[in-house]
Amino acid sequence: MSMETSLVCIDCGKAHEPSRVWQCECGGLLEARTSGIDISTGELDRRLGKRSFPFNSGVWIYKELVNPLIDDKMIVSKTEGNTTIYSHRKTSEFSGVAKLYLKHEGENPTGSFKDRGMTVGVSEAVRLGCRMVGCASTGNTSASLAAYASTAGIRSVVFIPSGEIAYGKLSQTMAYGAKVVQVKGNFDDAMRLIQEICAKREIYLLNSINPWRIEGQKAIAFELLQQMHWNPPDWIALPAGNLGNTSAIGKALRELKGLGLVEKMPRIAAIQAEGADPFYRMWKGGDAGLRRIERPSTLASAIRIGNPVSWKKAIRAIKECSGVVERVSDQEIMNAKAVIDSSGIGCEPASAASLAGVRKLRMGGVIKEDETVVCILTGNILKDPDATINYHRGALSGVVASYANAPVQADADSESIMKIL
Ligand code: F0G
Repeated sequence: MSMETSLVCIDCGKAHEPSRVWQCECGGLLEARTSGIDISTGELDRRLGKRSFPFNSGVWIYKELVNPLIDDKMIVSKTEGNTTIYSHRKTSEFSGVAKLYLKHEGENPTGSFKDRGMTVGVSEAVRLGCRMVGCASTGNTSASLAAYASTAGIRSVVFIPSGEIAYGKLSQTMAYGAKVVQVKGNFDDAMRLIQEICAKREIYLLNSINPWRIEGQKAIAFELLQQMHWNPPDWIALPAGNLGNTSAIGKALRELKGLGLVEKMPRIAAIQAEGADPFYRMWKGGDAGLRRIERPSTLASAIRIGNPVSWKKAIRAIKECSGVVERVSDQEIMNAKAVIDSSGIGCEPASAASLAGVRKLRMGGVIKEDETVVCILTGNILKDPDATINYHRGALSGVVASYANAPVQADADSESIMKIL
């Protein structure tokens, strides 16, 4: 059977040809659906360890499952994926879960999981002949977009909330050559404006509202399950902001199960920050719709989002896998980060929400002691050095740095240094 792909509206069901559309006329979110996929775990395992393109990429090794129809020559890849799964005594003890693993998506080329979605999104932009791509971002999407667009030789524009994104991310975005627009508002304002402007100008929108971004991000789950020899863990825990990643992991699990590549679906634990928790509130309250938060606030700037665009896909994902939504405070996030960091693994604040959430769910008895849990660490420790330094200096307002490791000053002679040691 030959493969066919269309972009289907999750609200009205209308199927669109894969073109420049990223949203249905009815306002609904689009989802890529391909019929006739024929792939086995045996074939995927045979591709492992290949050093040449496309199978050396941890996204394009799953080509049939991410964008089957694109010509290899159009693919813009920086050999993303192939990220490590860590375990450490400290993170297991902290969480109360012995079989606790951390998959480090901060090992991607630009330091975050966004590269997986971006390689597929920018490749599709090239296939469609787009000259300019754009996104709104809390920082990581913009860094990734800028890098992949420049690799492809196309222009990029990013809208970021002024003064609200971490320096590592801002510096990358400027350096990779995107046009950076600092919007005097929050991420939700930037998101609204980029959608308006992309609709008016010839700019291809590459936020995770774009279905191809989701297709690429599914590869986190594909790779994770392949690394676990197709034996699913009980739980996958991840930070949740704009909810693209929750949607993507959910779609990946649905597809793997549908194709018979795994027997059971892990449960997703989507973790929000307390000051930016509209999805948590909706899930907890059993509400039919999402009520936005006007002024989201958390130290984890990556997930400082009050009106997540992908909530409809994400709630379906949570329901399908009997998942849960939890929220954690900045205090819990920063302590979890300090434990991950001092295990030699390291991550940015938002990523640590996953571990903080697992600890809370374990304490509440939702996660059982003997279950297997994988946390997705979404971003690299170097993305937000200010948060790390201020934590260890005890300079984060409202946070008690229980694991602080502040530097000490020394006079420039060996005797004073010996005294300190
Ligand atoms: N972790 C990190 C490090 C992120 O950068 C993001 C999102 C998330 C988690 C949440 O993922 O939005 O799919 O639920 N960052 C976006 C950005 C919003 O613009 O970089 P999500």
